[in-house]
Amino acid sequence: MQSASSASTPLLTIGVPRETIPGERRVALTPEAVRKLVGRGFAVLVEREAGLAAGFTDEEYEAAGAQLVSDAVAVYSRASLVVKVQRPTQHEVDLFQPGTALIAFLQPLVRPELIAALAERQVTAISMDTIPRITRAQPMDALSSMSTVAGYKAVLLAANELPKFFPLMMTAAGTIRPAKVLILGAGVAGLQAIATARRLGAIVEAFDTRPVVKEQVESLGAKFLEIEIRTEEVGGYATELAEEHLRLEQELIHNHCVEADVVITTALVPGRRAPLLIREETVRAMRPRSVIVDLAAEMGGNCELTQPGETVVRNGVTIMGPLNLPSEMAYTASQMYARNVTALIEHLAPRGELVFDFEDEITRGVVLARGGEILHEPTLARLKEEVR
Ligand code: NAI
Repeated sequence: MQSASSASTPLLTIGVPRETIPGERRVALTPEAVRKLVGRGFAVLVEREAGLAAGFTDEEYEAAGAQLVSDAVAVYSRASLVVKVQRPTQHEVDLFQPGTALIAFLQPLVRPELIAALAERQVTAISMDTIPRITRAQPMDALSSMSTVAGYKAVLLAANELPKFFPLMMTAAGTIRPAKVLILGAGVAGLQAIATARRLGAIVEAFDTRPVVKEQVESLGAKFLEIEIRTEEVGGYATELAEEHLRLEQELIHNHCVEADVVITTALVPGRRAPLLIREETVRAMRPRSVIVDLAAEMGGNCELTQPGETVVRNGVTIMGPLNLPSEMAYTASQMYARNVTALIEHLAPRGELVFDFEDEITRGVVLARGGEILHEPTLARLKEEVR
């Protein structure tokens, strides 16, 4: 890459505003990321105190080579690429200069109208939540980073709420049996939850509809729960098989929830409402001191009684539906997010300016709008659905 001084075309000016959505503590770039980008020849503007809630001071940003600016207006008016964690508010959309670009979690399928507003403003909308889950894109996969943080933190929340030890304890007062933890969904968050609960000494079981994760679950020291289905007993027709499968799955989840002290649910089917795994009757049958942490709260919840963003107690069972656990671990979550963003910037601007090669799967995945046009088919489809 050319240095800033020798570049024939101006290198990008990257701007980092302070997050404005209430409760958001993360910051899009850390001083470590700024140092790396400045070293590549980019200019980085950071709004004063943008990193403070995550534990990064203005002095650290300055020492890393950032230029501090006093307010968001200065960031939006001078940056050619704005990087954020959360989607912009309408007020922030209005601050963008036409022709500039934005990288953030844009949730296009939940908020397609935001992508339309950015397109109308002539902003190139680049979404961190549509990075394809392919090997080449792993260093940019911010959803996986945030799920890793959430899986870890969910276990700590549960441990804090549970009136019991997690590990086996041999004490002068006798032996205390370890807690039993059930993890539903063994994707990124679920696997991290398994690892964390195991480190705390709990007995861990996990269930996922994908049998391929069995090996990973077992390698973390947990038991993988499986459904045994005998085709000869259900006739073998596809619909009967599917129904029988679902019934056995629900029975298995019910039976293991009833035995568990902690249940952490992470089941997700991309773009759809979260699957309902724990019914009210199961909660009623659980022990009164047990805890459910429902990570899928934002997508409707895996538990029938989950209230998004709330902790409720039903029949003595505590049900937590946290919506933004990564923000509660803002330091590490920002570090991981900033590394993912930096990898994406390096991918999209290998020579210091944004170049969009739509033959590339990553570029096609992340660039949702450009030049006033929405390019992302699923967003267009969602917008059409809303008009109908
Ligand atoms: P992932 O896609 O890696 O894993 C989801 C897993 O659920 C997959 O392994 C899938 O096979 C499994 N699954 C789907 N249907 C199932 C069913 N009926 N029964 C059992 N398993 C089933 O997703 P990831 O990244 O682990 O995220 C998990 C959840 O955590 C998502 O809902 C995500 O939105 C949420 N999340 C929540 C945060 C928070 O602060 N509340 C932060 C980050 C993620």
